[in-house]
Amino acid sequence: SIRRMGLIERYIDRLPFELGDPIVSLNEGSTPLILAPRLSERVGAEVHLKYEGLNPTGSFKDRGMTAAVSAAVRDGAEAVICASTGNTAASLAAYASRAGIRGVVLVPDGKIAAGKLAQALMHGAQVVALRGNFDKALELVRAISEIHPIALVNSVNDFRVEGQKTAAFEILEDLDGRLDALCIPVGNAGNITAYWKGFQESGASPRMLGFQAHGANPLVRGEMVPEPETIASAIRIGNPARWEEAMGAMVGSGGKVDDCTDEEILDAYRFLAREEGVFCEPASATSVAGLLKHGAGDAQRIVCVLTGHGLKDPQTALDESPPVIPCEPTLKALEKVLVG
Ligand code: F0G
Repeated sequence: SIRRMGLIERYIDRLPFELGDPIVSLNEGSTPLILAPRLSERVGAEVHLKYEGLNPTGSFKDRGMTAAVSAAVRDGAEAVICASTGNTAASLAAYASRAGIRGVVLVPDGKIAAGKLAQALMHGAQVVALRGNFDKALELVRAISEIHPIALVNSVNDFRVEGQKTAAFEILEDLDGRLDALCIPVGNAGNITAYWKGFQESGASPRMLGFQAHGANPLVRGEMVPEPETIASAIRIGNPARWEEAMGAMVGSGGKVDDCTDEEILDAYRFLAREEGVFCEPASATSVAGLLKHGAGDAQRIVCVLTGHGLKDPQTALDESPPVIPCEPTLKALEKVLVG
């Protein structure tokens, strides 16, 4: 069955791989598309959630990483490196361990969610905490991969985009090709580039609605943000690598780019968990925050991409929730708590 197949195997005829190539896979992809009835009611359109948090390491990055690491291994690489706000690091670490090669990740010191750090360390990657932000980290890994034999697997690597475009294929299959708009968070702008490529290769042209966090909104401002800041740490990026392609996707599809405040992002984050039963990380909720801000417009059928699992960032979840209820271990005490 498809769910026991990785995405390179599933889509090999549409990817730059051939039968017999060494494939590094954890059976990523084939994630569920979940109808969101309450969100649909709020915006007056049929809205579905592409729950990418159900990939092997809990984010969409696994789609790109199976492709990038497989290609690196095919080319004889013995080490892979990336800069990351956390999810790429977790995914690289898992796929490098699977491939039996060295994994190195550069993350902004103190600015990545606990779950992601735990994953990267647990899978045995070398985790370097940079005293600088993601943009600086990307600059450094680009430079070091040019002078040392270590393969760069950030989304500047075209294999990442190739792997990630398969999410567009899956959505079109699940919706029989009928989709009017896609809402997606934008950080380094690799994923929106990948979806647009996947849609175009399928002859589809949904409006691409890209949303950034207000404090990390270079595409909205039309200029770099030197010190990006947002609660959505995954998209705390001021100088996206795929800037031009992302703008091309949004303009070319008749879509738009906009931003959401941290408060709007957190509202959507709680709404999804409490009213749709779907727990994503804060950055992922930006797609829904953007839809709620922007409205459905003339779109009848919309997909919001939920890029990462809520468990990635337990601290934000705890901070945004009511406290637990203490209780003595007696029936009377429990009754008092439950019925007052
Ligand atoms: N959502 C999540 C959960 C992410 O981790 C990222 C990017 C994005 C959205 C934005 O995607 O960069 O392709 O526009 N995370 C990268 C990382 C930067 O290092 O994990 P993008």
